[in-house]
Amino acid sequence: MATATARLVLLVALVAGSSCSAWAAVQVAADERQKEADVAAPVIHALRPMVGSAGDLGRRGGVPCDSWRLAVEAYNKRDWRTVPVDCEGYVGHYMLGGHYRQDSGDVVDEAVAYAEGLKLGGKGKEVWVFDTDETTLSNLPYYATDGFGTKPYNATSFNEYVMEGSAPVLPETQRLYNKLISLGIKPVFVTGRTEDQRAITVANLRREGYSGWMKLMLKPVGYNGTAIGFKSGERQKLQDAGYVIVGNIGDQWSDILGAPEGARTFKLPDPLYYIG
Ligand SMILES: *[C@@H]1O[C@H](CO)[C@@H](O)[C@H](O)[C@H]1NC(C)=O
Ligand SMILES: *[C@@H]1O[C@H](CO)[C@@H](O)[C@H](O)[C@H]1NC(C)=O
Repeated sequence: MATATARLVLLVALVAGSSCSAWAAVQVAADERQKEADVAAPVIHALRPMVGSAGDLGRRGGVPCDSWRLAVEAYNKRDWRTVPVDCEGYVGHYMLGGHYRQDSGDVVDEAVAYAEGLKLGGKGKEVWVFDTDETTLSNLPYYATDGFGTKPYNATSFNEYVMEGSAPVLPETQRLYNKLISLGIKPVFVTGRTEDQRAITVANLRREGYSGWMKLMLKPVGYNGTAIGFKSGERQKLQDAGYVIVGNIGDQWSDILGAPEGARTFKLPDPLYYIG
């Protein structure tokens, strides 16, 4: 698997128009928080599909990876722990090529059209709930160097990555975010990140161009309930405070299940990991 990862990283570097060291350069630059010139962008932006839009269905060793991904996205497959090892290349190409961005863009197009059609009450009570990881920010730089979800979740190394505050923006979601602000709908973040990660999360969001959110709701440290329980509970608090949740977007089903869900929910793609 290390070989497949290395190959993908090399491809990324090549597509980004530079040598293999481009990957390291991106991360160093990110550490230095250089916002200008789309520093983190090559990670998920300036890439081109590398397998052709329909060419490689990812059938490796008998695992039809496209069918696996569909089952995951449709929430037919649940409680899975890792991406099938045979699908590392497939998921890597999906995430780093144009397909992931395309799928995300299609979701956001629908969300924007829906938001534009809303009749607001005029009292500024409408809010839209955003998840953070793989929704407003992308952890692809981490997963691209860690087997694209084929390895069991490592809380230590993942939290180290989070604390760098270098996660790049997911540009499609930011398009929705900015549209909502222009319409007068207030963004609220409800995230499974924990309260001790508030400062770095705020810094990361700002660094990637987010501003003007109404609230950032994080899990208490040591919270031992489910993601659905936490997130629906936070949405209930918003509703109890008189806000109207007109929309809710996330990459996990646990972001958008559990009353009150919000008047309409939007599911972004994420074949990298499952949070129940
Ligand atoms: C998890 O990450 C930490 C920090 O990078 C590392 O030391 C540890 O070996 C990793 N654990 C596993 C099981 O890979
Ligand atoms: C979860 O936390 C609550 C309150 O802090 C505690 O009473 C309960 O025993 C915990 N449950 C588990 C499974 O750790």
